[in-house]
Amino acid sequence: MSFPDMQTAIGWKSFARECLRAVAAHTSRSCPSDGKLLQQILGSGSDANETGYFYSGLTLSMGIRSALRAVGKQVGDFDRLLDFGCGSARVLRWFQDVLPQTELHGCDVNREAIDWCNANAPFAKFILNEKDPPLPYPSGYFDFIYGVSCFDAFRRGTSICLAC
Ligand SMILES: C[S@@+](CC[C@H](N)C(=O)[O-])C[C@H]1O[C@@H](n2cnc3c(N)ncnc32)[C@H](O)[C@@H]1O
Repeated sequence: MSFPDMQTAIGWKSFARECLRAVAAHTSRSCPSDGKLLQQILGSGSDANETGYFYSGLTLSMGIRSALRAVGKQVGDFDRLLDFGCGSARVLRWFQDVLPQTELHGCDVNREAIDWCNANAPFAKFILNEKDPPLPYPSGYFDFIYGVSCFDAFRRGTSICLAC
């Protein structure tokens, strides 16, 4: 095996180990039983069920991990992470492996989603935010922010201020 191939193989092994750690650290098997909450994140197709909720969240979280690795980072490198527009914590739940060194936070404008998270996702802190900026966090509070499937908020013309 040539040197770059070996580096790639080592990289994939390390990524696979990271993902396995995430699966092992995953707690709380609760999935929203409210069809409306599930449909908001999964649409109205046949995947809008418990399996779709868990597996799509896991694959999306792996995509985030992979994107971070591409810039030489890992989720555990951050002190505080925010899932902007977290819905029912479908993605955030797969980052429990970095607790407690990284705090997990989620925010959303949907009260039902945030109530569900507060009742069922004890591994993170959640807040209900206003549709318009600013978010209710101190400046510089987060060192990593991501948002999944929430760009309709931008399309509506809302300028989302991420300087929080
Ligand atoms: C399609 S859902 C995705 C939820 C979650 N990111 C996921 O992937 O499971 C879009 C989410 O963005 C939220 N959202 C839309 N506009 C927002 C805003 N201005 N601030 C915070 N959340 C917002 C919605 O309430 C909804 O929960």
